[in-house]
Amino acid sequence: MRHQPLPGTTGADTDLVYTPGSYADMAMRLLPLYGRVLDPARGRGAFFDRIPAHCEPLWCEVAEGRNFYDWVERVDWVVTNPPWSEIRPFMAHAMTIADNVVFLVTANHAYTRARVRLAQDAGFGLRGMLHMPTPPKPWPASGFQLSLLWWQRGWRGTTETYHAMDDLAAA
Ligand SMILES: C[S@@+](CC[C@H](N)C(=O)[O-])C[C@H]1O[C@@H](n2cnc3c(N)ncnc32)[C@H](O)[C@@H]1O
Repeated sequence: MRHQPLPGTTGADTDLVYTPGSYADMAMRLLPLYGRVLDPARGRGAFFDRIPAHCEPLWCEVAEGRNFYDWVERVDWVVTNPPWSEIRPFMAHAMTIADNVVFLVTANHAYTRARVRLAQDAGFGLRGMLHMPTPPKPWPASGFQLSLLWWQRGWRGTTETYHAMDDLAAA
């Protein structure tokens, strides 16, 4: 049930793969969240439901009539597992409205030339990455490392890398 698409959603199958709760738990516990926190692709709420009480929780979900591309208000954080066929445009739009952008995606998305350029042109640097094990099916096994990637506006320092490979029980 957890992985069934929401009614009314369209797009690629991999746009509808939902994050296990234990993964979102770890992400939201480790990130220094503050202020306005937007989940731009809420799905079933894995990240949204775990936004800490001291933050203002905000969401989009196209299946419920809120398209992220229509969101123009400033926020402090964008945090989600985005629709996988839209990672580049999601990242580009997120970097116009947020100071911190966090996506649960495969790590290669941080390092293609185009993504490095996109982040650089938007004034962001890769602040940190947390490697996580690939969840069980229906999560596709792509051969790339799953990672929580955190880009921060103005970051010019090195990228901190953490591993949660042994800490997450198969969900
Ligand atoms: C890969 S699923 C992940 C859902 C949730 N973030 C999670 O971690 O479980 C991506 C979600 O993005 C939604 N979505 C796709 N395009 C969107 C858009 N333009 N604006 C808002 N939501 C969108 C899909 O309907 C789907 O629920």
